[in-house]
Amino acid sequence: MKVLIIGSGGREHSILQACLASPLVKSVIAAPGNGGMALDTECRPVNINDVKSIVDLAKEEKVDFVIVGPEIPLCLGVIDKLQAETILAFGPNKQAARLEGSKVFTKKFLKKYAIPTAESSTFTQLKPALDYLDISSSPIVIKADGLAGGKGVIIPTDKKTAEFNIQNMLSGKLFGESGKKIVIEEYLQGEEASIHIIASGEKYLTLPPSQDHKRIGENDTGLNTGGMGAYAPASVVSDKLQLQINKGIIEPTLAGLKLEGINYHGVLYIGIMITDKGPKVIEFNVRFGDPETQVLLPLIETDPIKLMYDCATNNLDPTAIKFKNKSACVVVIASKGYPEVYPKGEIIQFPNHTPKNINVIHAGTSLGDDGKFLTNGGRVLGITALGKDLETAAQDAYLYCEKVQFPSVYYRRDIGAKELR
Ligand code: AMP
Ligand code: GLY
Repeated sequence: MKVLIIGSGGREHSILQACLASPLVKSVIAAPGNGGMALDTECRPVNINDVKSIVDLAKEEKVDFVIVGPEIPLCLGVIDKLQAETILAFGPNKQAARLEGSKVFTKKFLKKYAIPTAESSTFTQLKPALDYLDISSSPIVIKADGLAGGKGVIIPTDKKTAEFNIQNMLSGKLFGESGKKIVIEEYLQGEEASIHIIASGEKYLTLPPSQDHKRIGENDTGLNTGGMGAYAPASVVSDKLQLQINKGIIEPTLAGLKLEGINYHGVLYIGIMITDKGPKVIEFNVRFGDPETQVLLPLIETDPIKLMYDCATNNLDPTAIKFKNKSACVVVIASKGYPEVYPKGEIIQFPNHTPKNINVIHAGTSLGDDGKFLTNGGRVLGITALGKDLETAAQDAYLYCEKVQFPSVYYRRDIGAKELR
């Protein structure tokens, strides 16, 4: 079949690699893609905020299957529009995508179905929000209701900062319409894990638990980012805990969605905090995590594209998936300055030899006319290694990272280190 991949990050390059390895896939187009994807396949420009242009491209190219990477087109209803044109697509529809598109919707949903999460309240007016802040005795988290490019969650260090952010969100100054409704919730202490499932109605299968490293600096310091590295499987989620997550979070979520008349098809990525009172939902994402995808897809022994296709055609067989008995680690190479201001257009030099267990995933790169790759974003590359265990995988990923050069190269040296200690 002919596949169209929507998106331009490491997640989408990883999906492209899976497509290129799939016996089901004859050809692939990526839109808009990145430098590495342009070397691997044909890329076409598309505005991911413009659902019509995505649907037009799918029609023009007569593709058989569309895989949508990022949340924005999903929340804008690209799946509904593709389906209306009888084009098969992988991802949840607009109604289901509200699980990521609206924090207020999600908190209401979690409360209604008694799914464990942080205590919270919703506000649209300044005074009640500030009054709530006054009576909160413990640390809080402020969240914009809508999508805010991964920046909509603020963990204030003091009351003044909290007041400032509440004010700027509600006035629309900080995140426009997305911030005019906010959730203020209790700060959860614990260890985070990323749980990915592929769901088709109430049928689902779980991918190995993974752990992302969100902060820019080592030992989880500094600003929040899109994710600086990940590994899987993550042992913080023991088999017993996974079972608890299945029974206490995943199954009531899928059952609740059904009761709400929402038929969920696609990946659901659940951000979990493992607290001393058990696992709690931090957030839902209606797509694969980035960089989690870069470690999850290589751990699947069976064809991940077949899995996505079966999910989209209502034929998901949760028992048909097999995993490799290995560990995977991805180290994100960024441009120094990210997640704030960073340079672009630097020439990237790669080592001459790429070992068999290394996947070089492109994110913020472009391909120059001379065939050289240039930096073109904050997160530039993701170096993924597979190994017999995390220690070997991390070692191999770092050996490769050391040989990648451009003037502003920056990466965390401690991906997976907590697990290895
Ligand atoms: P989100 O955009 O919802 O993924 O939130 C970004 C990050 O903020 C999460 O990965 C957590 O590290 C942190 N976070 C969000 N909500 C909470 C919470 N209630 N307690 C502690 N940390 C949180
Ligand atoms: N790894 C974080 C995210 O994809 O949202």
